[in-house]
Amino acid sequence: MPDDLHALSPLDALRAILGPAGLLTAPEDLAPYLSDWRGLYTGEAMALLRPASTEEVSACVALCAKHGIAIIPQGGNTSMVGGATPESRPGQVILSLARMNRVREVDALDMTMTVEAGLVLTRAQEVAAEHGCLFPLSLGAEGSAMIGGLLSTNAGGNTTVRYGNARELMLGLEVVLPDGGIIHGLRRLRKDNTGYALRHLFVGAEGTLGIITAAVLRLFPAPRETVTALCAVPSEDAALSLFRRFRAADEGAVRAFEYMSGTGMGMVFATIEGTALPLSNPVNHYVLVDLTASREGAGLRTLAETVLEAALIEGEIEDAILAESEAQRASLWRLREEHPEAQKRTGANVKNDVSVPVSHVPEMIRRCSEALREMIPGSRPVPFGHLGDGNIHMNLVQPEGMEPSAFLARSHDIMDCVNAIVRDLGGSFSAEHGVGRLKTDMMEEWRGGAELAAMRAIKAALDPRGIMNPGKVLPGG
Ligand code: FAD
Ligand code: MLT
Ligand code: ZN
Repeated sequence: MPDDLHALSPLDALRAILGPAGLLTAPEDLAPYLSDWRGLYTGEAMALLRPASTEEVSACVALCAKHGIAIIPQGGNTSMVGGATPESRPGQVILSLARMNRVREVDALDMTMTVEAGLVLTRAQEVAAEHGCLFPLSLGAEGSAMIGGLLSTNAGGNTTVRYGNARELMLGLEVVLPDGGIIHGLRRLRKDNTGYALRHLFVGAEGTLGIITAAVLRLFPAPRETVTALCAVPSEDAALSLFRRFRAADEGAVRAFEYMSGTGMGMVFATIEGTALPLSNPVNHYVLVDLTASREGAGLRTLAETVLEAALIEGEIEDAILAESEAQRASLWRLREEHPEAQKRTGANVKNDVSVPVSHVPEMIRRCSEALREMIPGSRPVPFGHLGDGNIHMNLVQPEGMEPSAFLARSHDIMDCVNAIVRDLGGSFSAEHGVGRLKTDMMEEWRGGAELAAMRAIKAALDPRGIMNPGKVLPGG
């Protein structure tokens, strides 16, 4: 890195910091980073920065701050809310963490792992397993999503019911602030009450307050026993009762408890090759439950059979299958994980990532489905997801034969319709995907007043020039 960058243009100075492999400007190189996974947004950037170290991130950010150049941090670019996509305005850069993918340390005794922000989630899971441990975060995009992005969105996923969100899996953070300063907070402590817990500010901030460059993650004992069951249930209420039954039988064993509708399963069978219902008859409601234990001989299969038998007698389940092998377990999980892709293949769809208190999930699904069908006749509600967390993806797929653009033009009406019911039930308009660019206009109504004012004050204090991920999270920000 040359000592004197002052004589150079901002772009040349960034190139001098990063070297030729670290800065791309060709349109074909930039293209994949300019659009989001859902195809909702395409933006502009004058360069893609690919730093390889925290020092390089810091130097780039300091330089951008000096010139007022906006920075859009990007991990795996799997955001559901356009959070990692630049706006359409000149003079900004995308900063990809992909080259910062090292595992700095694993401590299987302390049960911690210190990794860089660009490490892909599946790799983090593998490294933990290589050390006889578990890193439990798990979601459909895990082959692309990176630790920095997962923390910046406080990702949830399939195992929140047992292990919490990404926030609960983090002990310490290294962060580059909007002026280029570095917070060296990679502490591996379970207890550390030393002033404001700044690390938590950056979790869920979606890149608006700084750039996460590394994190200390919590590890857990690897599972020694796993039982997976797919159950056909007669109603949403029965799905909730089954959740309560499993938790009452052994609260600590429930690793995942996912709800799927007959409509969603039908879309999976129709669009995803090699999938089929492993039960005798199709029904309107399904549950996928995973039980795990970190000790052998925990008797989870017997526990599952006992719970399912009792539920069958009470009419709370109609049929169930317990996976007999790892391959069968994977094929049951595939039916769940292919839901987003199956909806995409079926037609235009609007996502509503909402949460309500767990006890209100059945009412929320029923009321939203009815209201959505009434609003757009022929449209197909596809509620699915993390019932155990009260987080259902109350998605809506277009009516057959309708022009996709005509359906998508109703997106905001659809979200408003769901949100009104969710609000009535004491829920949230974004359970795990964040606010990004898609939902900033909901913030005033849901978080307005003192809460939004405090968020704006934090943003102004840390990022007075507003260079970090503009247009995301805060309305007008
Ligand atoms: P990106 O999409 O690149 O970025 C997300 C946000 O974080 C952006 O605002 C970006 O600017 C910011 N950011 C990225 N890296 C950094 C960094 N190092 N420092 C500061 N800011 C940063 N999400 C769930 O919570 N649960 C699910 O079950 C789930 N399932 C999904 C299934 C599929 C098929 C897909 C495509 C997505 C799913 N998601 C889910 C959404 C998405 O995977 C998560 O939001 C994930 O956390 C994003 O990680 P990423 O690395 O792709 O981040
Ligand atoms: C999932 O859990 O699969 C995603 O978060 C939901 C979605 O695609 O809407
Ligand atoms: Zn989800």
